Amino acid sequence: MRTVRFGIIGAGLMGREFASAAARWAHLTDMGVRPEIVAVCDTNPAILTWYRDNFSSVRKTTGDYRELLADPGVEAVYCAVPHNLHAALYTDIIRAGKHLLGEKPFGIDAAANAAILAECAAHPKVFVRCSSEFPFYPAVQRLGGLIEKGAFGRILEVNSYFLHSSDLDPTKPINWKRMIEFNGAYGCMGDLGMHVCHVPFRAGWFPRNVRAILSDVIKERPDGKGGRVPCKTWDNATLLCEGLDAGSGDAFPLTFKTQRIAPGEKDTWSLEILGTQTSARFSTKNPKLLQVLDYRGGEQIWQQIDMGYDTAFKSITGGIFEFGFSDAILQMWAAFLQELDTGKPLSRFAGCATPEEARWSHRLFTAALESHAQSKVVAV
Ligand SMILES: NC(=O)c1ccc[n+]([C@@H]2O[C@H](COP(=O)([O-])OP(=O)(O)OC[C@H]3O[C@@H](n4cnc5c(N)ncnc54)[C@H](O)[C@@H]3O)[C@@H](O)[C@H]2O)c1
Repeated sequence: MRTVRFGIIGAGLMGREFASAAARWAHLTDMGVRPEIVAVCDTNPAILTWYRDNFSSVRKTTGDYRELLADPGVEAVYCAVPHNLHAALYTDIIRAGKHLLGEKPFGIDAAANAAILAECAAHPKVFVRCSSEFPFYPAVQRLGGLIEKGAFGRILEVNSYFLHSSDLDPTKPINWKRMIEFNGAYGCMGDLGMHVCHVPFRAGWFPRNVRAILSDVIKERPDGKGGRVPCKTWDNATLLCEGLDAGSGDAFPLTFKTQRIAPGEKDTWSLEILGTQTSARFSTKNPKLLQVLDYRGGEQIWQQIDMGYDTAFKSITGGIFEFGFSDAILQMWAAFLQELDTGKPLSRFAGCATPEEARWSHRLFTAALESHAQSKVVAV
C-alpha cells in the first residue's frame, strides 16, 4: 500500500471533510494507495486544534502555507481556501512540485483560472485535479455507464441543477461566500457551478452559447456586528445553453441552474437527461432513486430503481445500504489517489474533474456574466 503524505491548506468546512475521509480509509477495500495527513495550514489558529486533537499523523500545523510547501515530507496538497486566493496558492503549490486537489471554482475568475492552468502546463509531472464529488453517487455512476454505452440515443435535453436555500433567510449574516472580493463576480456560479458542469462536460456535452439570467435577490445582509452591509453577489443563475454533443455533433438545450435561494432545497444536486431511446433522472433529494425510461416503441414506462451502495470504489458497506455526502467525498478522494497512483482513472465517470473541465466552466460563467449584463446570447 503506497502512502501519499498530504498537507491541507484551508482547514475549514471542506478541509475537515477530507481529514475525516482520510480517517476512514479502511472503509475502502481495493485501494493500493492511501492518504496520510501530516501537515495542516490555516490562518485561523483556532481551527487547527481539531486536527491536532484527532489526527496523530499531523506533525505540523502552521498559519503560513509557504512553510507547509517547504516541507519535503509533504507530497500532495488539498487546498480549500476562499476563491480570491486560488490563483496565488494553487500556482505556488504546483510550482513547489506538490500534487494538488484544488477546490472549485479553480480561480476566482477566468484570468486566475488561466494562471493556474499555465502553471499546470509548466509542471506536467504534478497531478492536478478539481474537487467535485456528486458524480460519485451510485446513481450518477450508473448514468455515466449509460452515457458511455450511448444508451440515450439522440440527446433531446439535459438539465443539470444545484439548488440551495442557504440564503433564503435575509437575516443570515454575510460571510466571504457572499462578498465579491472573496467569492468573485460569478457569485453562485463560482460556488456551485463546477458541480453542475462536471458530468455534462465529461459526457462531451459542451455549451456553444449561453443566455443567462442572474438574480441578486438579497441586496443587503447583517454584518454580524450589529450593522448591515451590501451583498452584491449573484444569488441565483439560470443558464440556458445550446449544448453540442461532441460525439454526434447534434445540438440540444442544455440548462444549468445554480441557486442559493431555491425555496425547499437544501443541497439538491440533480441531473435529467432526455434522449430518444433512454431518459433518466436523479436528484440527491431522494438519493437512492434513479428513474429510467427505456423507449423501444410501445408504452413509455418510467422505472424506479432503488440504488444501493453500488460505488465505483468498493467498500465494506453492504450493497443494500444508503449513500450520502460524506460517502461521495470519500469516493472522490479514492478517485484522486487512484489516478495519482496509476496514471489513469478507474473509468471515465470515476475520475475527478480536470483542470481543462474547470477551464470550460470559466468560459461558460464568463460568457454568462456578459449575457446577463447585455441581455443577449453570448458564444462560449
Ligand atoms: N466540494 C464541495 O462540495 C465544496 C463545498 C463547500 C466549499 N467548497 C469550496 O472549498 C473552498 C473553501 O470553502 P470552505 O467552505 O471550506 O470555506 P471555509 O471558510 O470553511 O474554509 C476556508 C478556510 O481557509 C482559511 N484561510 C483563509 N486564508 C488562508 C490562507 N492564506 N492560508 C491558509 N488558510 C487560509 C480560513 O481561515 C478558513 O478556515 C472554496 O473554494 C469553496 O468553493 C467546496
